[in-house]
Amino acid sequence: MQNDAIITQSPIGSNAPPRPAMQPNPADPLEQFLHWFLTQGSRIGMVPLLGAVVQTDKVASIIWYRKAPFQVELFIIPPHYIVPEHTHPNVDSFEVYLGGQINFSHTGKYTTHWENQIPDQYGCSPLRGTVTRVRPNDPHGGTFGPSGGVFFSVQHWLNGVEPHRVGFDWDGAVVGPEHMARVVYGDAVLKPELTPKDAASGEF
Ligand SMILES: [Fe+2]
Repeated sequence: MQNDAIITQSPIGSNAPPRPAMQPNPADPLEQFLHWFLTQGSRIGMVPLLGAVVQTDKVASIIWYRKAPFQVELFIIPPHYIVPEHTHPNVDSFEVYLGGQINFSHTGKYTTHWENQIPDQYGCSPLRGTVTRVRPNDPHGGTFGPSGGVFFSVQHWLNGVEPHRVGFDWDGAVVGPEHMARVVYGDAVLKPELTPKDAASGEF
C-alpha cells in the first residue's frame, strides 16, 4: 500500500541518502535539518550524558541528537508489539526505517508490510531507509513482528515546546500504563487491550 507521506527509500544495499537529503525544500526547516543530519551529522551521534535512554512499557528511546527546536530519537520496539494510532500535537517529524519487522501505519493504512519482505544481500530489508513524513495531525502507529523493529524519528518541535520525548507528547491510545503515566501533553487514553486494528484502523 503506497502512501503520499512516504518520501522515498534508499536503493537496495545503498548508503545513498533519501531524496529529501539530496534535494531539501528550502522552505521546509525539517527537510533542511534532515538533510544536514543525514549528510553532515556525527556518525557517533550526540547521545547526552544525562537522559540518554528512557524505557517505557518495554519501548526504548535513545536521544541521538538534540538542539532545540530539532531532535533525533532512536526507537527500539520489542517483538510482537502494537503501537496504536496517535498524533504528536507539538511535533513535525520524519520517521526513518532502519530494520526489523515493522508494519508502519499512516492515516489508517499500512505503508510497509514486513511479511512481504525478503532480506537483501546484507540481510537487510529492501525498505531500509524509507522516510515517512508525519505531521502534527497525522495519525500513525504500527505493529511489529517477532524481530521487533528499529527506526529513528527526526523531529521539529513546534509551538515553543522544548524537545523532550515524542512519546510523551501524545494524543490517542498509549502502549501501556507506564506510558500513560508519563504523557505530559495531549489526550492520552489507556485501553485494556490493544489489537492490530488499533494500529491501523483503515486496514480492518
Ligand atoms: Fe508517533
